[in-house]
Amino acid sequence: MDSIVFENKLNGYISIINKRLDELLEIKYPKEIYEAMRYSVFAGGKRLRPVLLLAFCEMFGGKTEDALDFACAIEMIHTYSLIHDDLPAMDNDDYRRGKLTCHKKFNEAIAILAGDALLNKAYEVMTNLVVTKKEEKFATAMKYIADSAGTCGMVGGQVVDVLSEDKEITSDILSYIHKNKTAELIIAPLKAGCVLGENDNIIEKIELVQSIGEKVGVAFQIKDDILDVKSTTEELGKPVFSDSKNKKTTYVTMYGIEKSEEKLKKLTEEALCIIDKFGDKNEFVYEYIKKLVKRIK
Ligand code: IPE
Ligand code: IPE
Ligand code: MG
Ligand code: MG
Ligand code: MG
Repeated sequence: MDSIVFENKLNGYISIINKRLDELLEIKYPKEIYEAMRYSVFAGGKRLRPVLLLAFCEMFGGKTEDALDFACAIEMIHTYSLIHDDLPAMDNDDYRRGKLTCHKKFNEAIAILAGDALLNKAYEVMTNLVVTKKEEKFATAMKYIADSAGTCGMVGGQVVDVLSEDKEITSDILSYIHKNKTAELIIAPLKAGCVLGENDNIIEKIELVQSIGEKVGVAFQIKDDILDVKSTTEELGKPVFSDSKNKKTTYVTMYGIEKSEEKLKKLTEEALCIIDKFGDKNEFVYEYIKKLVKRIK
């Protein structure tokens, strides 16, 4: 895909996501909580998860209007996970998305509540769709997202991540952490996009999409672990060496940079092979996932 066409398409997705997030997070009373939610949501994230949701929906023949609020919901859940991840009781980081973290800008109580509020808002937005649209695919999309965020997904991964600090862990535990803390919130938007877009052979397609999501999601966290040691705070928008500060086992500490880079490439190639099966509307998705290997933030 031509790089200008790709950039235009990506920026198009990001701009409709941002516009809808702006509407959904309209300031009400008490304004302090909306200000904290909006501060973190609009701090400058890449919008990976919502873009993937819209792009998968489109690849499977769906309409953006059916998928947009789910895309915003997944970005709210992701942003809440970052606000809490940065808290002193967790990774204790002062910068995120190039700005002070939520608890540094406001205070810890407001940051905890802003995270809670974003998580809850995501469910308000999704249940609203489920009750108004009355089509099963909307409930299924919500279920994929709900299942990915909790103890059998992101929260479970974060729990094992913090409990493993300063401990020797096995490669199976490290795989569990990466699959759950990160890949689950990437698998879910792909599956939601697929179910909202596709009408035929949905069970078979969801299985393939699950597999793409696992590979892309684990690869994404491997790259995050590499950037933590190879990038700079300015470039990344969040502190480098956060993992060693917190005595985390990462892909880099377990396997070294070179093997981590090999694994990142291999997982991505495997994901791209599956995407190849989805025919001629897959170009943007293919290009986007390919580019994640070389991302610099
Ligand atoms: C950071 O996610 C947390 C991880 C799961 C590695 P992103 O790298 O997608 O962060 P933003 O949304 O662009 O800030
Ligand atoms: C966090 O992993 C994944 C989340 C669920 C937020 P990290 O702790 O490595 O993410 P960063 O590096 O702070 O973004
Ligand atoms: Mg963390
Ligand atoms: Mg962190
Ligand atoms: Mg990290």
